[in-house]
Order: sequence, then C-alpha cells, then structure tokens
Amino acid sequence: MKPYKIITLPSPILRKKSKEVTKIDNNIKNIAERMLFTLKESELGLGLAAPQIGENIRIIAVGVNEARDKQGKIIQKEIPLTIFINPEITKLSKTKDIEEEGCLCLLGYYGPVERPTKIKFKALTLDGREIKVNASGLFARIVQHEVDHLEGVLFVDRLTDKSKLRKVKIEADDS
Ligand code: CO
Repeated sequence: MKPYKIITLPSPILRKKSKEVTKIDNNIKNIAERMLFTLKESELGLGLAAPQIGENIRIIAVGVNEARDKQGKIIQKEIPLTIFINPEITKLSKTKDIEEEGCLCLLGYYGPVERPTKIKFKALTLDGREIKVNASGLFARIVQHEVDHLEGVLFVDRLTDKSKLRKVKIEADDS
C-alpha cells in the first residue's frame, strides 16, 4: 500500500464542506484503510480527514502513539488508530483550554487554539455500527480539529491570537 499524498493549502478541496457517506462500500473501505496507513506513516500527524487526501467525504482517522517522559512515566496514553465515518459532535463542554495545534496541510506552522476539553460525538465504524464516544484531552481536541476539516475549517481560522502563529523549520533528513 502507498500512503496518500497530503493536499496542502491553498487547495480549494480543503475549504469545501464534505458530503456524508451514504453507503460503506468497498471504495469507502479502501479509502479508509489507506487513510489509516497514511496516518501511521506520517510521523507528525495525530489525525487525518478525508479532504486532506483529496476526498470531500465525511471520514476521519485518529491515532496517537504512547509517549513517556525521561523517567518512563506515561505522559500521553495511546489512542489506537481508528476510523470514524460521519462523525457528529453532540456535546461540547463549557470548560475550554488552549493548546498549540498544527496540521499536515500547513506543515511546520503551529498556533494556539482554544477548544472545549470534553466532547461527546457519534459516528459509524467501518462495519457500519453507530457508536457514541466520550472524548477528553488530546483525543477530544483531535476529533474537533478533524471534524472542522469536514466543514472546510482549518486551525488557523480559530487561532486565539493570529500573531502567535509560528513557523518551525522541519529538519531535512540527510541520512
Ligand atoms: Co489538520
């Protein structure tokens, strides 16, 4: 399998509202599997939305590796690679926090975004089951970021302070 090429700004695909998936057929399953593979292969991505691979359909992928500090203490729990189809956020907490976000469509840019810390959402799994999920912390943030993509919204639209968008040089791999 080959990873998808990630669409970058200013592609209009990233600004379009995506369509609901009406039938989870083989085409949708193939796109979803390849999205998971693409997310796994990308070292910087925590989530991926279908518009980012050129498809304006409502599919997102989420996945985060476990991270430990120098003492070996877990600072980020693993979020297994998962596909959510037609995700719909049904509840947002009043409590919000501000964290830096980035995006594979705007590689190297980071900026502070305020979002609710807890959400409820529903979605379909790849085998067509409807699930309801409570998410908090990083998981809640990633789902909100990816659902934004399905509406054509990018994190740079939500910056708490536009002057705080910063560019980080991505080191070229010379090895
Ligand atoms: Co993004």
